[in-house]
Amino acid sequence: MVCQSPSSKMWVSLVSLLPLVAFALALPSKDCEHKVKEVIVPPRGWTIFGPAPPDHLIKLRIGLPQSNFDVLEEHLYAISDPYHERYGAHLAKEEIEELVAPHPDSVTAVNGWLSSHGIQEADIGRSAAGDWLTIRVPVQLVEKMLDTKYHIWKHTASGEYIVRTTSYSLPKDILDHVELIQPTTMFGTFKRLKSTIHSISKIDPQIQAQNLPPVFDSATGLTVDASCNTTITITCLRQIYNAVGYTPSAKVGNSIGIAGYLEDYANRADLQTFFADQVPAAAAVNATYNFVSVVGGLDPQDPAEAGAESDLDTQFAFGLSFPVASTFFSTAGRPPFIPDIGTPEDTNEPYTDWLDFMLSHPNPPLSISTSYGDDEQTVPESFAKRACAGFAQLGARGVSLMVSSGDGGVGDGDPDPATQECITNDGLNRTQFIPGFPASCPFVTAVGGTILFPEQAVDFSGGGFSNYFSRPSYQEAAVKGFLSKLPKGTYNGLFNPNGRAIPDVAAQSDFFRVFIGGQAFHIGGTSASSPTFAGFVALLNDGRLKKGLPSLGFLNPLFYSKAKSGFNDITVGNNPGCGTEGFNATVGWDAVTGLGTPNFAKLLKLVT
Ligand SMILES: *[C@@H]1O[C@H](CO)[C@@H](O)[C@H](O)[C@H]1NC(C)=O
Ligand SMILES: *[C@@H]1O[C@H](CO)[C@@H](O)[C@H](O)[C@H]1NC(C)=O
Ligand SMILES: *[C@@H]1O[C@H](CO)[C@@H](O)[C@H](O)[C@H]1NC(C)=O
Ligand SMILES: *[C@@H]1O[C@H](CO)[C@@H](O)[C@H](O)[C@H]1NC(C)=O
Repeated sequence: MVCQSPSSKMWVSLVSLLPLVAFALALPSKDCEHKVKEVIVPPRGWTIFGPAPPDHLIKLRIGLPQSNFDVLEEHLYAISDPYHERYGAHLAKEEIEELVAPHPDSVTAVNGWLSSHGIQEADIGRSAAGDWLTIRVPVQLVEKMLDTKYHIWKHTASGEYIVRTTSYSLPKDILDHVELIQPTTMFGTFKRLKSTIHSISKIDPQIQAQNLPPVFDSATGLTVDASCNTTITITCLRQIYNAVGYTPSAKVGNSIGIAGYLEDYANRADLQTFFADQVPAAAAVNATYNFVSVVGGLDPQDPAEAGAESDLDTQFAFGLSFPVASTFFSTAGRPPFIPDIGTPEDTNEPYTDWLDFMLSHPNPPLSISTSYGDDEQTVPESFAKRACAGFAQLGARGVSLMVSSGDGGVGDGDPDPATQECITNDGLNRTQFIPGFPASCPFVTAVGGTILFPEQAVDFSGGGFSNYFSRPSYQEAAVKGFLSKLPKGTYNGLFNPNGRAIPDVAAQSDFFRVFIGGQAFHIGGTSASSPTFAGFVALLNDGRLKKGLPSLGFLNPLFYSKAKSGFNDITVGNNPGCGTEGFNATVGWDAVTGLGTPNFAKLLKLVT
């Protein structure tokens, strides 16, 4: 099958070389008409800077429809429901690949289309399940294939440039065999998938965490060092979350991972310094992490290259779970296109490369945290849904995935409420709360933030309701309870009351004592909450594996049902944004701290 627009050079050459064939092809064929696949309004803040250079290379990702994703989803909910007989019966890599593999007709149709543009099998990268194809092609060819025009777009506020289009088309007979193609309409750029670090301040490395008399809290029955109100350490987290004295094993097949992106790198020397400061048992054996490079991600160990996000994540996740096997994944990816120096390639976004890698991994870590996200509305819905389906596949493998809920309260990712825009990207300019992605995906565990002990919600804790994903049944009762307590008419039109609600859980989020490039810092953000929660999930998995039980896998259905009583309900605080006071932390689930923070000893009893 050959579909070419009449202006195509290739068609012209076919005419001259093969007049008879060309005659046949030149017959007007309805199948060869292009149909619009996706069209968007250019998001606010982006303007056209100029035409895209024709030879600019694009790494194009083509998503083929996953033929049986609904079956996979059914399996996932069965094996994640603690009251189901199949609870914990995680699927094998091959079983999942079979369920998400595209229909052979889609493969054939798309292969034919690619080869009609001179793209050979050897030029095509395929994911393990065959549901993603990757090709590197110059703009001029992509424009022909997608019957579109790319431009260099400039983001006025940040000065970033990217090469994108606002619509693309496909030949009619390909339309249903392709779910999405990027980068086309994705304006949420790699760089703007920012880490959710709220604040960072340098502290004197000589000052050790203070040792004031501990505080007893009669409500929880816990004793916590007074210093934990102003400096969070591994000791503080074990005290606040009731895990003092629990020793995990290195020998039961347990594992934990941190996903790093955007050239933000973890540093081993910093981890050693942190261990010496807070985890003596790890320091005594010079414990370190395994490094895994994803599509060429680097591992520089120069102190000047130490990344705040990666150091925070590795130090707390691995510090809490030592001696559980730990891995830092570094996914390659360059900042956006720079027109002046002619960046040779326009990178996509991080999740799909990382997901392809994890899903093809024989043994992905059982508890994983990532602290990267962006406003949901900057990610095209088609892309968000497909990445979310990838997170579901990881859950079905028995992996628990934690993500930060965001640092803008009910507002956008902008930590400063005064400059939050909260205006929709769809051309209508409506004022609306701005949920974050991937927190809004129902197949991840979104972690919000708390401070102090006794704990209360931190004001920047990202929370709210997705505009892309409808509410999953596992949180229906909890969220309905919350909504029914809202004063009538509250924030009418500002949020989608039927959407997936964020966050699921929470953990401490400020004053984390971290070492970066040899210096001690205090860091805050839900960037700290997510790896903390992942560390406790690793401890829960330890308890299960020691008893011969499978890993916890996708957590949410368990948390909202059988394990609900294992959380400390946070009832003080709120998350302002968009010129409002945001939502209140309340009794039961709320859109600031979710179900609450972990009580490890209670949770352990509930899951073992
Ligand atoms: C933290 O500060 C609050 C007051 O803001 C106080 O009631 C509480 O006892 C302090 N907690 C600790 C652990 O010192
Ligand atoms: C840990 O590293 C230090 C410094 O490199 C070295 O002196 C020490 O022997 C190591 N300890 C162990 C247990 O490997
Ligand atoms: C929305 O805002 C943009 C940018 O300020 C403006 O160009 C556009 O006309 C606005 N649209 C509507 C419907 O108000
Ligand atoms: C939050 O609580 C305050 C104080 O009780 C109340 O005035 C306000 O209406 C509540 N806001 C929401 C959104 O529930």
